[in-house]
Amino acid sequence: MSPQRALIIGATGFVGGHLVELLAKKHPEMRLLCLTRDATPAKIEGLKSLNSHVDVLEGTLEDSELISQAAEKVDIVIHVAHSDHVPSVQAVLTGLKRQVATGSRKPPLYLHMSGCGVIADNVFGERVEHPKEWTDVGFRLDEHGDHRILEAGTESEGRIRTSILFPGLIYGIGKTRRSSAWVPLYSNLAKAAGHADTRGPGEVSQYCIHVQDVALAVVCVLDALLEGKIRGGEDGLFFVTSQEPTISWSEINSVLGDIMYSKGLVKMSGAKPFPESITEPLGHCKVTRENVVRDVTVMRELIACGNWGGTQNGARESLCRSVVKEMLEIAMP
Ligand SMILES: NC(=O)c1ccc[n+]([C@@H]2O[C@H](COP(=O)([O-])OP(=O)(O)OC[C@H]3O[C@@H](n4cnc5c(N)ncnc54)[C@H](OP(=O)(O)O)[C@@H]3O)[C@@H](O)[C@H]2O)c1
Repeated sequence: MSPQRALIIGATGFVGGHLVELLAKKHPEMRLLCLTRDATPAKIEGLKSLNSHVDVLEGTLEDSELISQAAEKVDIVIHVAHSDHVPSVQAVLTGLKRQVATGSRKPPLYLHMSGCGVIADNVFGERVEHPKEWTDVGFRLDEHGDHRILEAGTESEGRIRTSILFPGLIYGIGKTRRSSAWVPLYSNLAKAAGHADTRGPGEVSQYCIHVQDVALAVVCVLDALLEGKIRGGEDGLFFVTSQEPTISWSEINSVLGDIMYSKGLVKMSGAKPFPESITEPLGHCKVTRENVVRDVTVMRELIACGNWGGTQNGARESLCRSVVKEMLEIAMP
């Protein structure tokens, strides 16, 4: 049997780097075609150092036909570039559907990384006394943008086997992009304001997950699909969080504030609400809105399969101390 081929979209990202490296360990035969914009020699070298079976396809998420053509030729597509980029999702589905129409191969797999923003409450930092407890068991996507992927995964004929993963707040140190996007975002906002915090009182909290465990979760879902343990579509929807208690943005940002104060980057330690002049220009900033995720459950189904336990515990301590410190140093040397 010829080795499987996978198109990875977002390989150079925070999650993508860990994923590419993990695939080298768990699927050493798999060939990876990595879509990358600005394919500089350094970027290509960086990817090949993580996985020697990498080929680079230069292009952006806007290059729909390029993505469709690549998806048409692979067995697996893993999209970890942008949770809400509809044109690139459509391009992947177009390519996979063309492939299915030829009837020449097994139904292809499409794993897409979304985020827990889909279950956000759209409050702006206020505490909610009795938040809804979410579970991914029987979870329904309703009208969210990811429904296109779900629909493609539930068609009875020529089905694409799909899975959508919804991680909580991701922390840790990346292999290619070194820090999670929220670290430079919040540290730059803090610099502009002279102190750290988030919109409103920062009482909203969410579950977190180490970046290494996010990569592990992707590979576990991939294996479960390959082995037929899950069919995909409606039983391919997974929240990806640790089992530790949620962490609030005021907790995270007060550590951020202490560290930035000790480096002389802000005028006070700890955190307090940002003034309107800081939050107003954010408008519909996804990251700020995404802060409202609170209660999700763990990947119960995968745990039940005995496939996933997660390896990195101690999120509260490590995220709130050493990891935020280290991430901040990477983001703001
Ligand atoms: N980080 C979190 O806390 C978090 C939480 C929940 C969900 N998520 C979701 O998880 C996924 C991975 O997140 P991440 O933190 O790993 O993201 P990231 O570090 O920002 O990486 C994004 C990747 O996508 C590529 N990319 C972005 N826009 C592109 C474009 N227009 N054309 C081509 N490539 C493009 C980047 O390539 P370049 O190298 O060219 O920049 C990079 O490889 C995303 O879907 C994100 O929404 C993240």
